[in-house]
Amino acid sequence: MPITVVRTKAELRSEIARLTAEHGGRRGATPSLGLAPTMGALHNGHRMLAEAAVAANDVVVASVFVNPLQFGDPKDLERYPRTLDADAALLDAIGVDLVFAPSVEEMYPGGEPLVRVTAGPLAEKWEGASRPGHFDGVLTVVSKLFHLASPGPVAGRPVAFRAYFGQKDAQQLAIVRRMVKDLDFPVDVVGVPIVRAEDGLALSSRNQFLNDGDREAALVLSRALRLMDERATAHQPLEPDDAVALIKSQPGVELDYFEVVDADTLEPLAFNCRETPFTGEALAIVAARVGEVRLIDNMPLKAS
Ligand code: PAF
Repeated sequence: MPITVVRTKAELRSEIARLTAEHGGRRGATPSLGLAPTMGALHNGHRMLAEAAVAANDVVVASVFVNPLQFGDPKDLERYPRTLDADAALLDAIGVDLVFAPSVEEMYPGGEPLVRVTAGPLAEKWEGASRPGHFDGVLTVVSKLFHLASPGPVAGRPVAFRAYFGQKDAQQLAIVRRMVKDLDFPVDVVGVPIVRAEDGLALSSRNQFLNDGDREAALVLSRALRLMDERATAHQPLEPDDAVALIKSQPGVELDYFEVVDADTLEPLAFNCRETPFTGEALAIVAARVGEVRLIDNMPLKAS
């Protein structure tokens, strides 16, 4: 039987109740439900998200919803690819149990919500600096999805609830984690590592807009991140100047930012990074325009 695609919140709730009652506990003592929120147009990066959820949970729900609240430019919203049939087929093949694909009216029946979740200072820098309101839109829809997909108990036993987000959008992941902590959402947020093409380019739905020359030029971003990773592993100082110079030397690439930050606060590392040998954990982040396309990438750094 093909995967079930539901369009309404009521159907989502009743299908989650049915599926968790039927399958809850099949993988271990604690019944579990995984949620993979997406905007569709799924690529191999999303595949990893869904696979991670399927590997760890009794029941997995993926949402496919192009959320108008997180788009600044109406043309971007209109242009965003909508490929529900292909997405549902991919999720089905991975073993996802249920797809929630609501309309905009179903998600926001009163029109644009007057009350939103605000992301605060974490959203003011990096990606947030060039996309005002974007992370408020993300948090508003994510908090609605958390409420809608939150499983009730099964046979008196609580159901573990996990939500999967790609590490590729590191700022989104940090902000969602912070919302869960600050607002006590009963969900574990799981970050899923970036998927890279063989040449090192991080997978993104935007890569399709790169021509061959742009794509070649874009590889400088992962090279710069690897430079930081090599230094971290060798316990060397993590002064980002060399990585910045490498990116700036690449024709066709316009650097927006390159930094080494704390993965939770997104603040640049002041100590234990630039002048002294590095130990601990950090995140190197980068954003640049390559041709017409804005790309982001990042790499966790670790040295014990
Ligand atoms: O990362 C995305 O695809 C979106 O921002 C999300 C988390 C599905 C919210 O719309």
